[in-house]
Amino acid sequence: MKVEPAGALVGHIAVPGDKSISHRAVLIGALTDGETRVRGFGRSADTQSTVHAMRTLGIEVDDLADDELVLKGRGLTPFRGLTPAVDCGNAGTLMRLLTGILAGQEGRYELTGDESLTARPMDRVAEPLTRMGAHIETANGLPPVVVEGTDALHAIDYALPMASAQVKSAILLAALNAEGTTTVSEPVPTRDHTELMLEAAGARVRRRPNSVSLEPPARLRLPEVIVPGDFSSAAPFIVAATLLAGSELTIHDVGLNPRRTGLLDVLERMGARISVFNRRKVGGELIGDLGVRSAELTATDVGPGEVPLLVDELPLFALAAAGARGDTHLTGAGELRLKETDRIETVTNGLRALGVHIRSRDDGFEVRGVPARPTGGRMPSNGDHRIAVLAAIAGVVSRDGVDVGGADAVAISFPGFFDLLDSVSKR
Ligand code: S3P
Repeated sequence: MKVEPAGALVGHIAVPGDKSISHRAVLIGALTDGETRVRGFGRSADTQSTVHAMRTLGIEVDDLADDELVLKGRGLTPFRGLTPAVDCGNAGTLMRLLTGILAGQEGRYELTGDESLTARPMDRVAEPLTRMGAHIETANGLPPVVVEGTDALHAIDYALPMASAQVKSAILLAALNAEGTTTVSEPVPTRDHTELMLEAAGARVRRRPNSVSLEPPARLRLPEVIVPGDFSSAAPFIVAATLLAGSELTIHDVGLNPRRTGLLDVLERMGARISVFNRRKVGGELIGDLGVRSAELTATDVGPGEVPLLVDELPLFALAAAGARGDTHLTGAGELRLKETDRIETVTNGLRALGVHIRSRDDGFEVRGVPARPTGGRMPSNGDHRIAVLAAIAGVVSRDGVDVGGADAVAISFPGFFDLLDSVSKR
């Protein structure tokens, strides 16, 4: 798909519901007593994988609308094994969180995924869950994952070796059915949607800046989840509107959980003009509207303490850095090599082909910024949704446009992305 350069981004938009929260609403909803109605559900290939997984495991899920569904929870131990293999598609969040849930469900379960997911590490969840008493097999640390769950899990105190919300969440979901109080500490704070949703469902959760503890509840109840707009889907619009002179874009009802909005802080440091208004809390999550005007940017560095707060936005950060005055260094982001693609390589190779001065390092990248449009050219997504979105945004801010290879990968997280981008792009 060829994405032509735009003059500016102008208008008012809203983005689909948050992917992390949508996955969790369906997974946690299945473990409650009673129905869970999910409004603002972010329907995408990834979240559909979660809906399918729950159906495969025998949970009734009714689609009421594209962005709304209701599911019938069956209590904390709804699964009994003896189901066909559960296909997790491209969704790492699903495979890791579901492994945590199944650890505490008697029976044997097999989780598979697509080619990209089959290359992603699962030993990081297998190891703590094995310590809790589950039996988990992987293929040398990779999918497929075979879980032999037990009703005799026990609590652990676990220090995460890497900053990963998925691993933290897998342990907390297993802890729902473990005897004793489980504590997970993290090297750097990561997104806390699991903690917030479990709390909303009535679990006793103690949250501290670098750790979280959970006592197994007698039951969960979660009648309704209202999903905020996905900050990660707002991010490409924020970056494009910042880079394109004359832009004035408002993005309504965006999730502003501080553990997700690192990109806002980084862009503000670079000189961006972003205002936040109508701040409010919905179901424990902060949301608000964002007003973005174009600005001239100056380079900044991002290090390990900040990385988890913008982990999925680091590809877009590279593009912002390319349009900023000065040199940018990203360090402590080795986890990017373990995403849907090795994002250090897909970002640096992709942007370099468009005329950006960027080089990879083991744990990040370096960019020499020039306050001018990148030339443009061809950039492949390699099947990675965040890279397809990056290539498209590089196209709108480029001089000659970008031919995006494998553009359909955007549907993994944001099927309507190109239409929405088109609707606010002024030539
Ligand atoms: C996610 C956590 C992050 C993030 C992913 C979604 C989640 O992964 O990159 O897109 O929903 O918990 P890690 O936990 O592997 O860092």
